Amino acid sequence: VINVVTTADVRAAVGAARSAGRRIGFVPTMGYLHEGHLALFDRAREHTDFLVASIFVNPLQFGPSEDLARYPRDLDRDSRLAEERSVDILFIPAAAEMYPDADARIRITPGAMGDVMCGAFRPGHFSGVLTVVGKLFNIVAPDVAVFGQKDYQQAALIRRMVHDLDFPVRIDVAPTVREADGLALSSRNTYLDESARRQAASIYSGLQAARTAFGAGERGPAQLCDIVRTRLDTQPDIRVQYIELVDSGTLQPPVIANVGNVLAVAAFVGATRLIDNVIL
Ligand code: PAF
Repeated sequence: VINVVTTADVRAAVGAARSAGRRIGFVPTMGYLHEGHLALFDRAREHTDFLVASIFVNPLQFGPSEDLARYPRDLDRDSRLAEERSVDILFIPAAAEMYPDADARIRITPGAMGDVMCGAFRPGHFSGVLTVVGKLFNIVAPDVAVFGQKDYQQAALIRRMVHDLDFPVRIDVAPTVREADGLALSSRNTYLDESARRQAASIYSGLQAARTAFGAGERGPAQLCDIVRTRLDTQPDIRVQYIELVDSGTLQPPVIANVGNVLAVAAFVGATRLIDNVIL
């Protein structure tokens, strides 16, 4: 792996690879890599033969009371893991490289798909995500970019952005990687103490219970959401932010639950906000 910090160096390296006939894969991350990210690298490798990953904790997507300053970072370990998973270029820009102009004004805004689910509770978040991902796509110019299903709304918005704004990149979404008890891997799991960590597993077991009920014929969106809520309400330190059933493409609520709908949860476990989802 070659670590680069400037957009000029990424462009030069990718340009050379492309001239040599290689297909470019890209996995954007905020670092503190775990097996979920590594699965995205492997997935990108299946479709491409030159792999670029980025590590950038994007200030634009954090609200004023969120965890930007304490977001976990370990660049040495990340570089080692990227090396092991044969990432070719690791792009680690400073904030001044990505946002050199203090008065930069242009943003990509998500529209109605950004008003539901996490977007309803994190004003500006998805505009920050789309803006940085749009920039990264323009810098890296990948053929394929891979995102994780855990951040379902993010992946759906990026698909939509690529479609609506004609970015010449194929978006691939990889299944969520989980701990043995079902907890979705997340860099934020590192914030959980032992008790919170144990309770956090009920997010996925609740989602599974609802999926089982759907399999057995339950079609009421409210009923399916209530199954998850009932599970989470038994945990003393979990506070649900939302449980929503949505259409996989538009993110709008269906009248009755259908195969392919997404059941998504955001919940605080102690002070840590976690998200997860399943597809019916
Ligand atoms: O999912 C993430 O880690 C981030 O939202 C992303 C896509 C790297 C944009 O900053």
